[in-house]
Amino acid sequence: MGRSYKFQIRNDNIYQALDLQDMQKVIPAILTSDPEDLRAKLQLFKGESEWMHIDIMDGRFVPNVSVSVRDLLAPEGLAGDFRLEIHLMVQNPQAYLADCKAVGASRIIIHQEAAGDIEKALREMKAYGLQAGIALNPATPADAITRYTNDVASVLVMAVNPGSQGQEFMPSVLEKIPAIKKDFAQVLIGVDGGVGEENISQILQAGAEYAVVGSKIFAADDPKEAFKKLEGMIE
Ligand code: DX5
Ligand code: ZN
Repeated sequence: MGRSYKFQIRNDNIYQALDLQDMQKVIPAILTSDPEDLRAKLQLFKGESEWMHIDIMDGRFVPNVSVSVRDLLAPEGLAGDFRLEIHLMVQNPQAYLADCKAVGASRIIIHQEAAGDIEKALREMKAYGLQAGIALNPATPADAITRYTNDVASVLVMAVNPGSQGQEFMPSVLEKIPAIKKDFAQVLIGVDGGVGEENISQILQAGAEYAVVGSKIFAADDPKEAFKKLEGMIE
């Protein structure tokens, strides 16, 4: 805690002056279909983690269905205690943006592979004052997002196929990081899926600014300890 985040928005809405040194390097991921479980997991990390990654699934873009974005509002408004990164694994991301704004999200990540006008959705996010992010499935090459260079503040490199926790990390996706860095002057790169003690250093060394961790934190006996241990491994 106590980290500072200096995201400044230029007139043309490109995020500048990213204070990468202070960026939280491990972000816990909550993937659940149970609003009560969502609440309990947020409660557990209150005061422990500034950022939380919330996985939203529509049963179309991926087979599973999760809680809805609006579930983040109820019941005690816990969401306000965090900076939320909402990962929209949905076919029609534009339909979710107003709700993301309503729950006070900081960063929204949509998929390159989603349907609809991705560029329009990214611009709408920025118009809402949200950090715009784009995710790449393992099979999607880095150059699939080159056209969005001016519209995104962050790129999420998926190291598993989206849709569930506890899958095996695919190291080959790390090869995309230098290519993304070359195309995007200033961008936050996150890696999501299959991250744990055995690969977290490798991910940060490959140039990612942060890693998203689900099961290796939440399926641990002591999730807060597991989170701290991972953070300690990269400091
Ligand atoms: C995968 C999700 C991930 C997931 C990570 O569909 O986008 O964020 O929650 O969980 P682990 O770390 O278990 O792969
Ligand atoms: Zn995710």
